[in-house]
Amino acid sequence: MSHDALLQEVSKRRTFAIISHPDAGKTTLTEKLLLFAGAIQIAGSVKARKASRHASSDWMEIEKQRGISVASSVMQMEYRDCVINLLDTPGHQDFSEDTYRVLTAVDAALMVIDAANGIEPQTIRLLQVCRARNTPIITFINKFDREVQEPLDLLSEIESHLGMDAVPFSWPIGMGRKFGGVFDIRRNQMRVFKPGEERRAGDDELIAGLDNPEIARRFGEHFDKAREEIELVSEAAPAFDHEAFLAGQQTPVFFGSAINNFGVQEVLDTLVDFAPSPGSRQALQREVRPDEAKFTGVVFKIQANMDPAHRDRVAFVHVCSGRFERGMRIKVSRTGKDMRPNNVVSFLSQRRDLLDEAYAGDIIGIPNHGVLQLGDTLTEGETLQYTGLPFFAPELFQAVEVKDPLRTKQLRHGLAQLGEEGAIQVFRPEAAGGALLLGAVGQLQFEVVAHRLKTEYGVDARMMPSRYTMARWVTAEDPRALRKFMDANAAHIAYDVVDAAAFLITSHAQLRVAEERYPEIRFHAMREHS
Ligand code: G4P
Repeated sequence: MSHDALLQEVSKRRTFAIISHPDAGKTTLTEKLLLFAGAIQIAGSVKARKASRHASSDWMEIEKQRGISVASSVMQMEYRDCVINLLDTPGHQDFSEDTYRVLTAVDAALMVIDAANGIEPQTIRLLQVCRARNTPIITFINKFDREVQEPLDLLSEIESHLGMDAVPFSWPIGMGRKFGGVFDIRRNQMRVFKPGEERRAGDDELIAGLDNPEIARRFGEHFDKAREEIELVSEAAPAFDHEAFLAGQQTPVFFGSAINNFGVQEVLDTLVDFAPSPGSRQALQREVRPDEAKFTGVVFKIQANMDPAHRDRVAFVHVCSGRFERGMRIKVSRTGKDMRPNNVVSFLSQRRDLLDEAYAGDIIGIPNHGVLQLGDTLTEGETLQYTGLPFFAPELFQAVEVKDPLRTKQLRHGLAQLGEEGAIQVFRPEAAGGALLLGAVGQLQFEVVAHRLKTEYGVDARMMPSRYTMARWVTAEDPRALRKFMDANAAHIAYDVVDAAAFLITSHAQLRVAEERYPEIRFHAMREHS
């Protein structure tokens, strides 16, 4: 394939994820985006798979739905001349670690806010990850068909939480039962709101001009108020600056109502017009450009497949460069082993052939039996290790033992696999005879692991409280210094799934003491796979 053709494929790609607090309307908006792009024909297809997110008793539903969720965890749509990849993120906050890793595979994020609730805790956490990576963010303020907060208040709330300028592209006229529509500030025209799920792109009534007497006549006081606000923000807010958006310093803001298909097309158009195509990515050895001829990719998520009897898993690979082709020979850098994935998992997509080849920004799903681990880099032969896939130090710990000692081997095997999948972190104490420790970011992870150990590995595990509340991975320039530290603190040292040493403790005070006493040791709250 010529370089020009490759470059063209790369520049057509837009890869993004939606970040939101549960119930803000992520599922609804996802569905509407697919509908508007023509990737699905009827509403309801995405909604059907919506896994339970609220009560912890519902998580077994997540298991049941796993089959469906593999297919819909990446949704590809063609819109205008672009190929858009929408990556799904787990809704429940206890699985936020998974979400962080998904966010390493996107080039932009769409933030959905419930206009009644404003910015909510889960959104803030996800925003921090985007901010740390300078991911460009597009903001959609949803549910204007309800009585919600004032748009000016929402805007300043966004600015204060994001620490970036919010630039409204549209402005709501009225709200709730008096929601008249939005005024498109950049095109200087009003889009009149009509409730209903049946409307499609191009159906909207448009009225031109902020000074148009027809708008004033039809929308009265709501329009007067909106006009004042538009004039106010036009003076106060900076103009949209594409560079500032790409650098994560400005976010374009849209108002709408996803359930009524209102405001959805503007978001799609903005993704195509302004969101970036895939950029370069840093590996330990060098920086890799997306339009390099050779294929490279990184595993950012592992999902156990629906058939527990086979224990096969799907590795989600983010293509970082070149062209992937079904059946090509690829090398796993960590092990040096070759593989030839023929049977690539299908994701939701309009066109079959899009699944047979993939370019930077696309996601491919490779079924395997444990050959691929989180963070693995795949190449056509080069030894390369991408960086940037985070593992966070757990804040919750439980010791785990098997009820039937004869099943100890199965327990270790099951935990090793679940650990590799990133479902939980497994720590093996340095001290001989200590029970394995499980580390999690959310409580629900323990329950899921206990359930999966039972159903997939036939192990009845007993979870026991642990006194630890913190872990820090430890490294040092001088291996002798590290050894000395570990010997002196052997009772607190454990190894994770890739044999990285961690220091387990019960309080911040204990960490401070260790930091003072051992200045040559570095204590890490986050580990990147290496
Ligand atoms: P999530 O994935 O972010 O958790 O949210 P989801 O799309 O499931 O939406 C959460 C609830 O908000 C749903 O109602 C959905 O219908 C509603 N919703 C989404 N967009 C809008 C909107 O623009 N206006 C209004 N008024 N509501 C909206 P639900 O009652 O929880 O579910 P359902 O019974 O409608 O399925």
